[in-house]
Amino acid sequence: PGVPAAHAAGDVHTGQAYDPASSYTMKWTRADAMKIMQTQNNPNVPPGANSLLPSLTMPAIPRNFPVMTDPNGKQVWVWDTWPLTDLQGNNVSYNGYNIIFSLVADPYAGYTFDDRHVHARIGYWYQPSDKPTSGWTYGGQVFAGRTPATQAEWSGSAKIGKNGQFQLFYTHMNFADRSKPKAVITLSNGRIRTDHPADGPALSITMGKDQPLLEPDGKWYQNVAQNPYYSFRDPAVFTDPANPGKTYMVFEGNTAGQRGAYQCQQSDLGASGENPAQVTASGANFQMANIGLAVATDRKLTSWKFLPPILSGNCVNDQTERPQFVIKNGKYYLFTISHAFTYAAGLRGPDGLYGFVGDGIRSDFKPLNTSGLAMGNPTDLNLSPTDPRQNGRQYQSYSHYVMPGDLVESFIDDVDGRRGGTLAPTVKLNISGATTSVNQQLLPYGYIPSNVAVGHPGK
Ligand code: FRU
Repeated sequence: PGVPAAHAAGDVHTGQAYDPASSYTMKWTRADAMKIMQTQNNPNVPPGANSLLPSLTMPAIPRNFPVMTDPNGKQVWVWDTWPLTDLQGNNVSYNGYNIIFSLVADPYAGYTFDDRHVHARIGYWYQPSDKPTSGWTYGGQVFAGRTPATQAEWSGSAKIGKNGQFQLFYTHMNFADRSKPKAVITLSNGRIRTDHPADGPALSITMGKDQPLLEPDGKWYQNVAQNPYYSFRDPAVFTDPANPGKTYMVFEGNTAGQRGAYQCQQSDLGASGENPAQVTASGANFQMANIGLAVATDRKLTSWKFLPPILSGNCVNDQTERPQFVIKNGKYYLFTISHAFTYAAGLRGPDGLYGFVGDGIRSDFKPLNTSGLAMGNPTDLNLSPTDPRQNGRQYQSYSHYVMPGDLVESFIDDVDGRRGGTLAPTVKLNISGATTSVNQQLLPYGYIPSNVAVGHPGK
């Protein structure tokens, strides 16, 4: 309401594709994000109810959820999780086993669930591929005993190669100086074995040495000197049928520049009806998310070159995390996760899954469902996140990852005060053009089936 038609027209994203190496960056605008409150929120719900459109809401997770444990029955905290895949994004089994990688931490080591990030390690889990609802067996940490206590291992992706070899792209975090953590996108080549004697584990993983790949350039991607709170992480590696012979990576970044120096642009606002100078003065220029793109310059994927970001959320949101592409019916769906508390001043949205669709990996992406919101937690957006009456499920799950069949896995964070640290029930998205809806049925906890089999079929 009240938005001049000419401005509104300027808000229309076309979906048009650009050369991946060109400098076109789609802007997720404040006007786009405002559509959550304008058209996807019910202002009249009783305080603390879910105010989001049901079709954009993840169903409520029961508070009596089960937790994941190691083979001795000891709980393992689990959050961001990614399955073993190929470069086309299929979930692959190897020699009859499904394999997933998770950030893990130890619930008994004397720190809280919210302090887990600096202790994060990558763990792996497996299950027979023909029993995808049988739960997961914990294999341990992939780099067991190797990462110093001042460092952490954050999210990434795992790509199958030949004969049980695979490539683990992850974020190496150095917290030696806690006020300036250093992020390095890193590769380690690994090997999966399933040929152990009968008294050994069914499956084990060993890793080779770390190969640092990328640190932010300070030109497109903000670095630690520009902002100690910069984001640079979550590499997702993939190939694009439209660009044969090339291998790409998307990752979470921030727009480069000194923290707080950016002046919000009209193009960041779109037809929000606001004034760029006033938006800057509100402090919205501290929220400077982008989604980065890099291309491999060698066949072993050990050498990479930055390309300009494919999306920015300047003055909109500070985090577009765990980005990934799902290529479907010739369209490129760019999914990412974001938080209620990383929105810029004047904007409100839920924790959850966001998405955009275009004709190529660099496009004038259309925000899914016009706002970019694909699936939020049950939230009363009419109340602040810190209001004591707020919906107890506003943080029920996070770190959603979209898989073949449009199944979405995530981890449980906080269900009505009960903290998680375990895989959530999987849910299914219905994707049609630039519109999505959430199937209102919870599938099994940690349901992460494979759709492609590699190696022999198992026992
Ligand atoms: C998302 C995230 C990732 C990061 C990890 C750290 O949940 O913030 O971006 O790799 O968690 O725990």
